[in-house]
Amino acid sequence: MIDLHTHILPAVDDGAQTLEESLKLLYVLGEQGVDKVVLSPHFYAHMESAETFLNRRNTQAEVLKKAVESLDVSLPTGYLAAEVQIAKNLWRFEEHFDELCINGTKYILLEPPYMYWENWVFDSIHEFINNDYLPIIAHVERFLRFNPKDRIERLLAMEVLFQSNASSYSLFRKRRFLYTLIKQDRIHSFVSDAHNLSTRFPEMADAQKRIRRRFGEGQLAWFDGQAEEVLKTAIPLFESKNERGTL
Ligand SMILES: [Fe+2]
Repeated sequence: MIDLHTHILPAVDDGAQTLEESLKLLYVLGEQGVDKVVLSPHFYAHMESAETFLNRRNTQAEVLKKAVESLDVSLPTGYLAAEVQIAKNLWRFEEHFDELCINGTKYILLEPPYMYWENWVFDSIHEFINNDYLPIIAHVERFLRFNPKDRIERLLAMEVLFQSNASSYSLFRKRRFLYTLIKQDRIHSFVSDAHNLSTRFPEMADAQKRIRRRFGEGQLAWFDGQAEEVLKTAIPLFESKNERGTL
């Protein structure tokens, strides 16, 4: 299984706060059957510059890489990325967009704002498409509360990919929404969006079980194929080893 969205890098955002927590999260994902993990800390353009964010992120990526490589434990392969919130001032950081993509690809993980989407939100996504980026919209089901049906449908009609969070499959309303979209082949992947081991822990195995029960093994294979395609040219930060040790 591939997990295209996590907050596992230590002390970069509101995800893992220590190296120990990062390693445990990777280990738990591995136990749930995940062998490739995208590390995608939040980038908020209204809070800091892209340069500052990328410096912080890259420093912590090296810390995690060193720790993973020094352990005799089988952990998933990691890929560096970011979860970029769509903001009015985002485009002033255009020169850094390639670095915010999943490393080695043109796939960029975009998080729409948690508010009513005015036209500039859609314009910004269009701008990415027009500049040959491949936007992946994070957890589309989390925005139902903030936007009426016509806004959600306008987003769903765009030529972008839509992620779903594994944890949403255990919530009735969100699950119903996602199942309808899965039937229409509109959901690209399910991801852990894991932040920690307490309140926002990895739920990949549980989501996998629910999707298998509802749609069968073929749907899971389809999700895997979609995620593999995203990582086809991606450059790993660290690679999984076949060690038998445990954390
Ligand atoms: Fe996230």
